[in-house]
Amino acid sequence: MPPAASASSGPADTDQAATPNIPQCTPSNTPKHDASDKRWRPVEAAMRRNGYRPGGLIEALHAVQRSYGYIDDASMRALGATMQLPLSKIYGVVTFYHFFHLKPKGRHTCVVCLGTACYIKGADRLLQAISREQQMQPGETSADGRLSLLTARCVGSCGQAPAVVIDDLVQGQAEGSAINRQLARLNGREEERPAATATKGPPAAGEART
Ligand code: FES
Repeated sequence: MPPAASASSGPADTDQAATPNIPQCTPSNTPKHDASDKRWRPVEAAMRRNGYRPGGLIEALHAVQRSYGYIDDASMRALGATMQLPLSKIYGVVTFYHFFHLKPKGRHTCVVCLGTACYIKGADRLLQAISREQQMQPGETSADGRLSLLTARCVGSCGQAPAVVIDDLVQGQAEGSAINRQLARLNGREEERPAATATKGPPAAGEART
């Protein structure tokens, strides 16, 4: 489904801006960006549907994330070369929208909303409490790949502020202690799983990890 937003709205044009610290690919997850990598085909199809025009950038980025689970610098460079867009512009779009990820996400995600309604209700303190307990900074994934701690500008549940989304389920009127208990329970369930299913390799062809 085409995304609601377009590349021409939202983020400021960062063509002239420096592109800081774009994560590097590892050999196991580097897309090949040609017919030999089946995962790239949906990306190519998304660009083709939009005539390889810059206006199709968001749809192409969604396709990259569905195929690989996140958006690496090699993919951004390939999109830029094909759609004739500067890397800084693509990086600006990817970092503006919270649903795009520059790094692989953990098996579980905890998204703390920092939008205005949630901020007024103490979302910053909530984030600190979770960050302290989980020993992770926002934007990080735990070393064992179990959890990613993320932030968003608004998750569409302002009436339940402050809101936290754990594995796509919104928790309204969230409190740090309750969220940390829930994350601990998730961790406990992970430890009960057989080792063979507790870890995953790079996304398989066509596999979407959200
Ligand atoms: S501002 Fe947090 S849900 Fe809207």
